[in-house]
Amino acid sequence: MTQKLAVVFGGSGFIGRYVVRQLAAAGWRVRIAVRDTRKAQFLKPAGDLGQISFIPASVTDPVSVAAAVHGADAVINLVGVLFDVGKRSFKAMHVTGAANVAQAAMIAGAKTLIHMSALGADAKSETAYARSKAEGEAAVRSAFPNATIFRPSVVFGPEDSFFNLYGLVAQVSPFLPFFTNANPHAPEGGGSKFQLVYVGDVATAIVQAVTDARHAGKTYELGGGRVYTMRDVVQIVNRETMRNRKIIGLPYIFALPGAYIGAAVRSLMALVGLPVDLLMFPTTDQLKLLKAGSVLTGNLPGLEAFGIEPTVAETVVPMYLKRFRAIQQNKKLRVAAR
Ligand SMILES: NC(=O)c1ccc[n+]([C@@H]2O[C@H](COP(=O)([O-])OP(=O)(O)OC[C@H]3O[C@@H](n4cnc5c(N)ncnc54)[C@H](OP(=O)(O)O)[C@@H]3O)[C@@H](O)[C@H]2O)c1
Repeated sequence: MTQKLAVVFGGSGFIGRYVVRQLAAAGWRVRIAVRDTRKAQFLKPAGDLGQISFIPASVTDPVSVAAAVHGADAVINLVGVLFDVGKRSFKAMHVTGAANVAQAAMIAGAKTLIHMSALGADAKSETAYARSKAEGEAAVRSAFPNATIFRPSVVFGPEDSFFNLYGLVAQVSPFLPFFTNANPHAPEGGGSKFQLVYVGDVATAIVQAVTDARHAGKTYELGGGRVYTMRDVVQIVNRETMRNRKIIGLPYIFALPGAYIGAAVRSLMALVGLPVDLLMFPTTDQLKLLKAGSVLTGNLPGLEAFGIEPTVAETVVPMYLKRFRAIQQNKKLRVAAR
């Protein structure tokens, strides 16, 4: 029997690689559609000979999207950006790109479309990111009404840019700062709250939605089993990196100068074609997102609809934060374990 074909836009990304591996393990042929197929080659061993293929495509280019989805049984769109800069604007990537993929999937006769949005997607949100995600969802629903939409909270895993960013800060800075609106010493001064969700759980839900028609037309919010404050997060990072940094809670106003400088530098980087996500400063939009936190509303179904018991961050994060320890620390632990 011929294997079914799933086309994964953004298959080489953080979440994409887990989706590709799980689809391949479930017996799907997987075609990875990304701009730079060389960067996706590391996924070739995820399948048998010929099971994983690659096609250069950009979601903003309808011709390449149509070629990518040709013959697809399922289409999964995992393309998104964190910075609203130049040609890779929120509008282009989250709205126009999402609509291009949904329309092409419909025309190609795909049975399933999975679209990745984000928790907090809301047409009336204060943040441009969340508004564009809501607009993208609407465009997807109108082109492909039976699409399954996922809204994950912040996703953690070995390649994440959340714990890893803090790990890097712990490595180089004597302080581990977090932002809060309240007195940082008060019980409620731990900063924004996040219901972090494990990348493997997100991928498992996506792969189930691809194969089980009961998920068609539904929207899910994906979050983990525990809500973490930003103080909890930096405490985990401090403990696991064994750096013993001073944790300090700062008012959000302290982050603003970095955001303004970052915006100016990022625009210059985009002008000369450098990747804008190399810069660590959050944008003002990201600061608003950070302030809002990312906790399930409880109004939509979540991981339980897939029978998934959420993976707890403390069981996975230590494995990849180890690399931010001082070399001597790991040596000491090895000696102690002998
Ligand atoms: N990570 C999180 O915590 C989180 C939380 C909530 C929602 N989400 C959403 O989940 C999705 C996946 O996130 P992620 O963290 O896995 O992203 P990621 O690591 O940045 O990966 C993005 C992927 O998209 C591809 N891509 C970028 N621009 C493209 C374009 N124009 N056309 C085709 N492919 C393109 C990239 O490959 P090339 O550069 O080679 O094209 C890469 O494979 C996004 O929609 C994001 O908004 C993520």
